[in-house]
Amino acid sequence: MTANTRIAILGAGPSGLAQLRAFEAARLAGVKDLPEIVCYEKQNDIAGMWNYTWRTGLDRNGEPVHGSMYRYLWSNGPKECLEFADYSFDKHFGRPIPSYPPREVLKDYIMGRLDKRAIFNYVRFECPVRWVTFDEETDKFTVTVMNHKTGEQECEQFDYVVVATGHFSTPNMPYFEGLEHFPGRVLHAHDFRDALEFEGQELLLVGGSYSAEDIGTQCYKYGAKSVTLSHRGDPLGYDWPEGIEERPLLIRLDGDVAHFEDGSSKRFDAVIMCTGYLFHFPFLPDDLRLQTHNCLYPDNLYKGVFFHPNPKLIYLGMQDQYFTFNMFDAQAWLVRDAIMGKFVVPDADARREDMEKWLAEHETLETPQESIDFQAKYIRDLVSLTDYPDFPIEKQAELFKSWLKDKEEDIMGFRNKSYASTITGTMAAKLPRPWMDIKDDSLEGFMALNFIEAE
Ligand SMILES: Cc1cc2nc3c(=O)[nH]c(=O)nc-3n(C[C@H](O)[C@H](O)[C@H](O)COP(=O)(O)OP(=O)(O)OC[C@H]3O[C@@H](n4cnc5c(N)ncnc54)[C@H](O)[C@@H]3O)c2cc1C
Ligand SMILES: NC(=O)c1ccc[n+]([C@@H]2O[C@H](COP(=O)([O-])OP(=O)(O)OC[C@H]3O[C@@H](n4cnc5c(N)ncnc54)[C@H](OP(=O)(O)O)[C@@H]3O)[C@@H](O)[C@H]2O)c1
Repeated sequence: MTANTRIAILGAGPSGLAQLRAFEAARLAGVKDLPEIVCYEKQNDIAGMWNYTWRTGLDRNGEPVHGSMYRYLWSNGPKECLEFADYSFDKHFGRPIPSYPPREVLKDYIMGRLDKRAIFNYVRFECPVRWVTFDEETDKFTVTVMNHKTGEQECEQFDYVVVATGHFSTPNMPYFEGLEHFPGRVLHAHDFRDALEFEGQELLLVGGSYSAEDIGTQCYKYGAKSVTLSHRGDPLGYDWPEGIEERPLLIRLDGDVAHFEDGSSKRFDAVIMCTGYLFHFPFLPDDLRLQTHNCLYPDNLYKGVFFHPNPKLIYLGMQDQYFTFNMFDAQAWLVRDAIMGKFVVPDADARREDMEKWLAEHETLETPQESIDFQAKYIRDLVSLTDYPDFPIEKQAELFKSWLKDKEEDIMGFRNKSYASTITGTMAAKLPRPWMDIKDDSLEGFMALNFIEAE
């Protein structure tokens, strides 16, 4: 690193913010000669996916809406699995809260540890990145953004580019015969906002993963008449209540009647495609663009972050996610250390050898339990390479496994369970009523509930 090193961070969601905070931590620790950082953010606030928007389609600047989150979204994993080592839930809320908070409550926690004034100094809002190039001769990237605040395009040069633009935003939208004649609403999970819209309706959800499971249970909670989940791989296989069922893959639609692979058929009012997201980097040329699908170890990312063909290009948070915020933190710490010369990114052969080792193990993963352990091991590797505060990664992995069991036992009631913090040991409070009966998901509404604290 030289005194004039410049870094562009693309995106101010949890991953981009982790990167900013990693440098802020160094600044607060008295490190001099920090690089100059510019963070370009398409939206008009920080928090990425957690910056909830009612909008769908295009934002007020005509840019594709980033948000895929919806009203009444509660955490789908225990909060104890994403707790920061240096900022506990106890510290933020001052008292025990339940293990599965709604969206606004989690956002409040994630944002709580940030010094917003310091962070805002780095971020240029409403600046979607349009294009990035790399010049072999000058060894520099040129980043072009549209500054919607000034109405002009801007072009600046950087030594490093950190791509933190997320990968749950551009819908993977398959086609099924007859969709064009379906008389009801057809939408992707990305555009789903309010379950009340589907009250009293017969819903078809295509997909067999988290969005299908969560949007399905949520629509049921808010009064859908029936929910049918159609899967192409294995069924989710939970013990669903009456009113939710699973069927094999949708084959075609005749008007409002859907036909499935097993020969069965049913009439529907609306179809929601819960078919996942595409990795979409329209601002990157082929030689800089990560090409992968949603998995725990994308190829060509040394240590899961440094782009193998050009390690000055860095990707954060590109893995499928059991662990989230503390994994982004560990990644950001390593990236900071590499940029500041404390961690040496090895030559291409050594990078390839390391990646092959992880990719080979990744290939062998068969169960969710093995996948959780694999991601925990990956984070352990990152933490071992930096001075990121050690945290009980393996204990959090065990909690994830208990979560899997709880879901298997009671898919509609797993959010009523409580766990002990792996950081402070505090036992989470219990919800005063079953999750199914609590309809107000606001921060104020949630915090006003009479939680039952552990004795
Ligand atoms: C429906 C849903 C529910 C989820 N629920 C949970 C949960 O309960 N718990 C959990 O831990 N995780 C959850 N997640 C996972 C979520 O992805 C992570 O929590 C986290 O938001 C990822 O952070 P990120 O910064 O990598 O990406 P994002 O949060 O997606 O942030 C990316 C940022 O980049 C910006 N950006 C994109 N393109 C450009 C561009 N061209 N130029 C400039 N800026 C750009 C975006 O505006 C955004 O601010 C959920 C995800 C989804 C889709
Ligand atoms: N409450 C919450 O916290 C919450 C709620 C929703 C989502 N999320 C998060 O959002 C992220 C994304 O989850 P996701 O479920 O949207 O995506 P995902 O996990 O990538 O799953 C996509 C699903 O779509 C299926 N699919 C893809 N193409 C298909 C096709 N052509 N036909 C039929 N099925 C198809 C896939 O099947 P195959 O497996 O066969 O490929 C898979 O089941 C996750 O990190 C999740 O944790 C969180």
